[in-house]
Amino acid sequence: MRNGAGRGIRHLYVHLPFCGHRCGYCDFVTLVGRRDQHGAYVDALLAELELERGLLAPALETIFLGGGTPTLTEPASLERLLDRLPGAEEVTVEANPETVTPELAGLLRRSGVSRVSLGAQTFQPDLLRVLERRATPDDVRRAFYHLRDASFDNISLDLLYGIPGQSTAQLERDLDQALALEPEHLSLYELEAKPGTRFTYAHGVALSQQEALMEGYFERVVERLQPAGYRWYETANFCRTGERVGGRDFRSRHNLAYWRGRDYLGLGMGAVSTVGGRRWRNTPRLNGYLQPLRQGVVPPRELELLEPRVQRQERLMLGLRLDEPLSLAEVGDVLDEGALERLAGGGLVEPSAGGSTLALTTRGRFLGGGVTAELLAT
Ligand SMILES: C[S@@+](CC[C@H](N)C(=O)[O-])C[C@H]1O[C@@H](n2cnc3c(N)ncnc32)[C@H](O)[C@@H]1O
Ligand code: SF4
Repeated sequence: MRNGAGRGIRHLYVHLPFCGHRCGYCDFVTLVGRRDQHGAYVDALLAELELERGLLAPALETIFLGGGTPTLTEPASLERLLDRLPGAEEVTVEANPETVTPELAGLLRRSGVSRVSLGAQTFQPDLLRVLERRATPDDVRRAFYHLRDASFDNISLDLLYGIPGQSTAQLERDLDQALALEPEHLSLYELEAKPGTRFTYAHGVALSQQEALMEGYFERVVERLQPAGYRWYETANFCRTGERVGGRDFRSRHNLAYWRGRDYLGLGMGAVSTVGGRRWRNTPRLNGYLQPLRQGVVPPRELELLEPRVQRQERLMLGLRLDEPLSLAEVGDVLDEGALERLAGGGLVEPSAGGSTLALTTRGRFLGGGVTAELLAT
């Protein structure tokens, strides 16, 4: 990297791809089983970390272990990885409910993990079956309490809406059951039909037919979560606020860094890094990832150079997902002034009084990506 550009990265993503089985709707880089290779995979992650360590700042702000199912990683290997990673102010691990035992929760806690993101998806047994999930609603609750017993005070739940066959009454029950656990953070994702998945083959038509209903579903989500004390701080993300949580900020600091366009380093197969205007993606193949790192060589990568204009477009698209105003100085020429005027007139965007910042209105946030796409100058 010339002139040290991109050094001093404060955000690290680590991909742990192993899963107990593949859920039909998922197209993430995952591998089923391969328990005998977990140790070798952690060796490779640590080798990649050594090769890239010069890019990292002396003190990291956030680390995120995502998957796959990080908590399925063979415990001794997971513990070794966590012990060897640098420290960070926020360390998040994604967990599947059926993998969270008191022992696993204790391992995470003593290894410096400060936040756990638990993939609940839904509490309705019939919808869990549609999703081909392994965890039952009781597994989700049990996992949550094991984490609380291990003193985790920052737990997030992922929920999906728009599951084929899901009624509004079932959505309400999911929200009731999630709120009853009082998580510090909630992510509510609309189920997407990922091309090429078993799920899209079986349910793609049903998903496209119900698309028009989804705005109403999400409005209901916001109507329930805001009065319950949750801040709608990003398109799909909510965190607890107020006196009951001592005024603490429970936004995901790691994901805030993505949305604010910060550089990050990603380790692992299929992991993406964005550093100083360059973006690379590691090979998604296990052997292709492991073998070079055994010799101390970086794995095959796809490299993309991000033109400054593309960076400003991304900044606009990601920045408007947040409930904080976006500085127009950062996006300049990628904003379509005519569209801005039109959308402001329609009550979908709100420029600040002096015109130096921009935010979506509540209505604009419900329409989300469509409004942002219109704002982008072609
Ligand atoms: C990559 S998964 C990893 C977490 C964990 N393995 C699990 O399944 O709970 C992270 C989150 O992405 C979301 N996700 C996965 N596939 C999705 C899809 N097709 N549409 C919307 N969200 C999806 C789920 O809510 C999931 O909790
Ligand atoms: S949804 Fe989670 S558990 Fe299921 S295959 Fe994807 S990463 Fe693995």
